[in-house]
Amino acid sequence: MPKGDMKKTLSPTLAMNERVRNMVAAGKQVFRFGFGQSPFEVPAPVVAALQDNAHQNDYLPVRGLPQLREAVARWWCRTQGPAFEGWTGDRVLVGPGSKELMFQLQMVYRGTVLVPNPSWVSYVPHARIAGAGHRWLECYAADGFRLTAATLARACDEIKGPKLLVLNSPNNPCGHAYDAEHLEPLAEVLRAHPDVLVLSDEIYGELHFRGEHVSMARYLPQRTCVATGLSKWCGAGGWRLGVMLMPPELTHLADAMASLASDTVSSASAPIQYAAVSAWDMRGEVGDYVRRTRGIMAQIGRRVAAALAEVPDVTASPIDGGFYVFFQLPGSDPDWCERLLDATGVALLHGSAFGRPADEISARLAFVDLDNVDEGLGRLVDWLSHGGLKGR
Ligand SMILES: Cc1ncc(COP(=O)(O)O)c(C=O)c1O
Repeated sequence: MPKGDMKKTLSPTLAMNERVRNMVAAGKQVFRFGFGQSPFEVPAPVVAALQDNAHQNDYLPVRGLPQLREAVARWWCRTQGPAFEGWTGDRVLVGPGSKELMFQLQMVYRGTVLVPNPSWVSYVPHARIAGAGHRWLECYAADGFRLTAATLARACDEIKGPKLLVLNSPNNPCGHAYDAEHLEPLAEVLRAHPDVLVLSDEIYGELHFRGEHVSMARYLPQRTCVATGLSKWCGAGGWRLGVMLMPPELTHLADAMASLASDTVSSASAPIQYAAVSAWDMRGEVGDYVRRTRGIMAQIGRRVAAALAEVPDVTASPIDGGFYVFFQLPGSDPDWCERLLDATGVALLHGSAFGRPADEISARLAFVDLDNVDEGLGRLVDWLSHGGLKGR
């Protein structure tokens, strides 16, 4: 591969992270609002569990360590209510990151992937690699950038054959959550379209700022696969541990994913799986950690919203959970994020990474650079408000 093509092969978030690393190595100050990594350490009991299990060196079952699958099922039943009574570890697949499990689902299902726009960077590349085909579903600022039932119904009517709807709540890049009032109308549309499956990406579920995350699976239990993992709420992105919960009705897909995994990743790392059992208990010290960290993110989210509100003409997404806000300004300026970075050191990820048009003035801000949030926000607001953008 020619050297110059290298960057194009990285996902946009990883490419931005690398660019920022290079600037820092060159001694420049950078406000790291581009890459969405948890700013918190892994909770102490989970680190201790990993240390205690460093000696675990056997290959584990493809579907995951039985104790971990049971721990995830217990947490699920405890938090999601009566629709899932009796669910056991049989309903859980473990993998090296939820990204891999979501990709596997696309590989084995092969329906047209319906992707709200804007959306996280990897769903569409997954569809391309799986050869599944995708359709963007436009979301609007007036709806808080959430997918509406009307848009979903139109797509379901127009596109023939099996479909996989991706929903992500709390959302990356938008920071909004889908509450009951948003999920029920979507589920109503889906009940009328039995050829649609839902991939509900709930990796930020524990980071709902009011602790009120609601799973889409409650509204369409027989057809929803839920993906989550340790990366965000447990500060353990580099541990690469994800899980997927799948209903009994989709056992054939879970079997196909396990078969695919057996010939590719084999299983997630053994010590990490043992350590993850203690993480998923999510009570005691780990529960305290979750409440403390999401409280900190909620406070910062409010400061970010207040700062963006100072910029004339800005439209920002509501912030209900996770690490992000998405914002737009009217006009056209394709390379504004690069100029912003050069002029102020503020790193954002341009909206085009999430499916928005290349010349749109939009971006995702990840408010994870905790020590520098206020200074970075100040520079951003100043640059946007005082002539940084072309033609404004
Ligand atoms: C919306 C969303 N889904 C999935 C992932 C991937 O998570 P994992 O580390 O479990 O593969 C990310 C990571 O950035 C994400 O933002």
